[in-house]
Amino acid sequence: MILVTGGAGFIGSNFVLDWFAQSEESVINLDKLTYAGNLENLTTLKNDPRHIFVQGDIGDAELVGKILAEHRPRAVVNFAAESHVDRSIHGPGEFIQTNIVGTFNLLEAVRAYWSGLAIAEKSGFRFLHVSTDEVYGSLAKDEPAFSETKRYEPNSPYSASKAASDHLVRAYHHTYGLPVVTTNCSNNYGPYHFPEKLIPLMIVNALAGKSLPVYGDGQQIRDWLYVKDHCSAIRRVLAKGKLGEVYNIGGWNEKANLDIVHTVCALLDELSPRSDKKSYREQITFVTDRPGHDRRYAIDARKIERELGWKPAETFETGIRKTVRWYLDNQGWVSNVQSGDYRKWVEKNYASRA
Ligand code: NAD
Ligand code: TYD
Repeated sequence: MILVTGGAGFIGSNFVLDWFAQSEESVINLDKLTYAGNLENLTTLKNDPRHIFVQGDIGDAELVGKILAEHRPRAVVNFAAESHVDRSIHGPGEFIQTNIVGTFNLLEAVRAYWSGLAIAEKSGFRFLHVSTDEVYGSLAKDEPAFSETKRYEPNSPYSASKAASDHLVRAYHHTYGLPVVTTNCSNNYGPYHFPEKLIPLMIVNALAGKSLPVYGDGQQIRDWLYVKDHCSAIRRVLAKGKLGEVYNIGGWNEKANLDIVHTVCALLDELSPRSDKKSYREQITFVTDRPGHDRRYAIDARKIERELGWKPAETFETGIRKTVRWYLDNQGWVSNVQSGDYRKWVEKNYASRA
């Protein structure tokens, strides 16, 4: 079996669901269930004996040690993290705690377990660390996309904490020989995306008749990857990735934020038109920019294609249509995640933006 951390979050839950669609191998899912963790994402696995859920913290080395000793997984896939840049600006402490200290404690527990394995199990073991393209910093318009050798230049507390965790993972390979692989992926979108991030926030706000808050001039560029393509890339790296290597994962879809919002509006105009027949674009408002806002991310995903034969299956057009459809079909999920805490966050993040 494998141990997945953060498997009740956006990407982790998609990964666990996709895993069982491809494999009979069991998963122990360790998740703290922060505001971003949601067991409702995994309801289809409720009576599935292959899925063992444990609520807990990756920073709790004793708990992780017990899980490892009891279940003896052949691999760990580490998704658990605080993941939202705006939250890291309002309160960086949790990011340091989970992304840096938590990853360190997890690595220590895994190292102790791995050191005690028999030779064959030891060499087959994998620690796959899931990271982000944001560690590479911001690109000018004409600069080449991030390759795996790009210098780290993280600009937000979120990206700095992820960069620190990447360095720890790297060091555990070089110093202790822990069999690690790291992936740095661009912005994901798709089902179960918490509506604090750009795409789900725009869909949810549009349907609720609320404003669509675009930061600054909306010309910041991100590369977008449909979440299921990220999951297939991780499965590929887990199966075939070379030890100690880093693989950048991206969708070859560089888009400006405003274009993303326009695309979401156009799809909603088609699939769920406003009662007054006006476009959802009417709801767009430009608001105060994010401090230190990175201008552009772009991923050069040629290494994973060349060495591991992985390419995304979805284009942005097919992926975004599926995503908008999913939110229209799952409005119960949306209203369940819009708890009091969610409303407090929205108030905190947007009230001060003119
Ligand atoms: P998310 O915020 O939706 O989910 C994170 C999950 O981790 C939640 O279920 C949460 O409860 C859990 N968690 C948080 N702290 C924990 C702790 N201390 N112990 C155990 N569990 C804990 O995040 P996501 O978007 O699914 O991202 C998953 C991973 O992928 C993160 O490491 C993130 O940095 C990385 N990543 C995300 C994106 C993206 O676009 N969302 C892109 C590239 C990389
Ligand atoms: P986000 O989804 O938070 O991902 P990240 O900051 O990790 O890239 O934001 C994506 C882009 O959208 C980013 O440039 C910030 C911008 N954005 C808005 O313009 N308005 C919003 O309300 C949010 C949440 C993000």
